[in-house]
This record gives sequence, C-alpha cells and structure tokens, in this order.
Amino acid sequence: MKTYRIAVIPGDGIGKEVVPAAIEVLNKAAALDGRFQFEWTTFPWGCDYYIETGKMMPDDGIELLKQYDQIFLGAVGMPELVPDHISLWGLLIKIRREMQQSINIRPAKLLQGLPSPLRQPHHFDFIVVRENSEGEYADIGGRLHSGQEEVAIQNAVFTRKGTERAIRYAFELAQSRRQHITSATKSNGITHSMPFWDEVFAQIGKEYPAIAQTSNHIDALAAFLVMKPESFDVIVASNLFGDILTDLGGAIMGSIGIAPAANLNIEGQYPSMFEPVHGSAPDIAGQGIANPIGQIWTGKMMIDFLGYPEVGTQILNAIETAFAQGIKTPDLGGTATLREVTDAVLHELT
Ligand code: NAI
Ligand code: MG
Repeated sequence: MKTYRIAVIPGDGIGKEVVPAAIEVLNKAAALDGRFQFEWTTFPWGCDYYIETGKMMPDDGIELLKQYDQIFLGAVGMPELVPDHISLWGLLIKIRREMQQSINIRPAKLLQGLPSPLRQPHHFDFIVVRENSEGEYADIGGRLHSGQEEVAIQNAVFTRKGTERAIRYAFELAQSRRQHITSATKSNGITHSMPFWDEVFAQIGKEYPAIAQTSNHIDALAAFLVMKPESFDVIVASNLFGDILTDLGGAIMGSIGIAPAANLNIEGQYPSMFEPVHGSAPDIAGQGIANPIGQIWTGKMMIDFLGYPEVGTQILNAIETAFAQGIKTPDLGGTATLREVTDAVLHELT
C-alpha cells in the first residue's frame, strides 16, 4: 500500500476545527479504497506561534515542509492580535512562492441540496485555473515624488514559461473533463500582455484540436458567470483575473464555507498546498459551528491530485447526499454543527 506523508498546518481560528474533521473523512476514504493511506504530521504554525516566538513559522520551516508529499492547510489569521500582512506573508505567501506553486485551481459547482444566490441557478460545474506566480501580482514597480506630483507605477509580468504552463495545464484539465476551455483576456484594453496571452492560448490550442476553445474579455466573462454559468467547463486566467473569477465562483455556490482550492507545483519538484478559500473566521471560531465542507472538498482535490479521482468523486457524492438530507451548518441556513455535518459525510461514505 502506498503511504502519503502530509504536512498539516491547521493554522488559526476555525482552521483548527475543520482540519481534524477533514482528516477523519480522508482517512475513511483511503481505508475504503485500500490502495493508499495517509501519514499526517501536524505543525502548530500560525498566529499563536507568532505571539510566542515572533515568527509565523520557524526559519527552517520551508526546508521541513519540503520533506513531505503535500501540505494540507486550514486558515491563517488573527486580525485582532496579529496584522494580516504579517500572518499572510509570513506563512501562506511564503510557502506559495518558495514552493513555486504556480497554478491555483478552484472548482465551482452547484451542489445538490444547496441554495445558490443566483435567481435561476443552472447546473454549473466549472473550474478556474489561475496563473499563481506572476502577471499583475508580480510586485514590480514603485512610487515617485509626492503631493500633486506623485506617481505610482505597477508593472505586470507575463513570461512565456509561466503563461504556457498555466494554459497547458488548463488544456490538459479540459481534456479530462467536458472538452471546453475559455480564456479570460482583455486584449482590447491591455495592449501588450493580453495579446501575448491570446497568442500563447491560440498556439497551445493547436495541439488540442478536439477541445472547444473560446476567448472572452474578462468583463463579459464575469457577467456570463452570473447569467449562464452552466456554459463553462475550464476557465484559464491570469493572476488578477483568476483571483476575481474564483471569488465569484465561490459566491454563486452559496457560501464561502464550502469553496475549495489548491496551489499546485505541477512539476512535482516541491509539495503542493491544499487550502480552502475561506479564512480563520474569528467571528465563529471555537463554537463548533464552522462548515467543514470547504476543507473536506479541498482534501478531495488533494486525493484527485495524488491520482485517485474515483475516490475524490466518492467524497463529493457523500457531501451532496448529506446536503440533500438538509444537514447544513448555519452559514447555509441550517442548524447542524460541524460534528453533525462531518458525521453525515462519514456515514454516506461507504
Ligand atoms: P473569513 O473567510 O475568515 O470569514 C468571512 C465570513 O465567512 C465570516 O462571517 C465567517 O464566519 C464566514 N465563514 C468563513 N468560513 C466559514 C466556514 N467554514 N463556515 C462558516 N462560516 C464561514 O474572512 P475574513 O473574516 O475576512 O478574515 C478572517 C481572517 O482570516 C483574517 O485574518 C484574514 O486575513 C484571514 N484569511 C485567511 C485566509 C487563508 O488562510 N487562506 C483566506 C482569507 C482570509
Ligand atoms: Mg481573492
């Protein structure tokens, strides 16, 4: 049997509640399958660690993490005690950058038994592939002069390597799904980087003649996600465009508490990091009512990435069956606790 060594960082707030719940589900899914198991090692890094030591993670933290197959993270942030830019840059962004997790993927799917804020929720099921290492978030630029003379310059960086990597990954994903890809562009207004993006998309597209290929300007695409989300399969986007589209995808699913995400090192040189979209939710932390589904679904993505998509599908089916029975936490309008939702998913996983 294959054993996967997973570094676990529950982090802060509800991260400490939803991560153990998700681990129970992942262990059961693995045991039922029988081909693999997990060996979990928990690291107590985050804001408590910062308050004690002045650091979000130890100096050799990245080296430690490199020894694991993957990283499973809850959420980081205690805004009343530690400023968010310290907690974010000291742990999350540091891991994403140093582990070269250059692709971020976030699925959005209308789940059975869940209300969507869309008035006519269609049966959408799409996944956004976001370039996660450069583009508009390249941190290149500066400010000059002051007062009325002040100037701010922010540069976007699109390398052929980074652009091809994201677009090729998205084509491969589309090939394993419904054979349709949409590129988020804005080449009518952004006149250098976006025509380059379009060229790379067209060029790689020639290698995948069986896949239906569409290019939409980002403003129209955002509107389409509200008006006809069912028409998308895989969407590939730059760092900024992908950031915006993935929040929109999470919103139309019904609650941020269910939205999953992965930061992938697709070369397999370093571990990838699986973390839900939501944060540490200090407003409900410690009450046992956090929705564990975002973390569980994130774990399903890790299992998919490890090469067991059938097992991932079983987990998602168990989640949908639990929802269809009305077992939901308060963020989804229900009255169930985290324990009850976790037990329902465990029960449906057979
Ligand atoms: P948040 O996602 O923690 O919470 C936003 C709202 O959604 C809150 O009302 C919360 O109760 C609710 N919510 C979130 N997840 C939920 C769940 N699983 N079940 C039920 N309700 C849920 O975002 P917020 O409040 O802006 O940030 C709180 C802290 O988390 C900050 O320190 C922030 O920097 C950090 N954060 C960390 C992230 C990460 O670790 N990836 C991502 C986003 C925020
Ligand atoms: Mg965002």
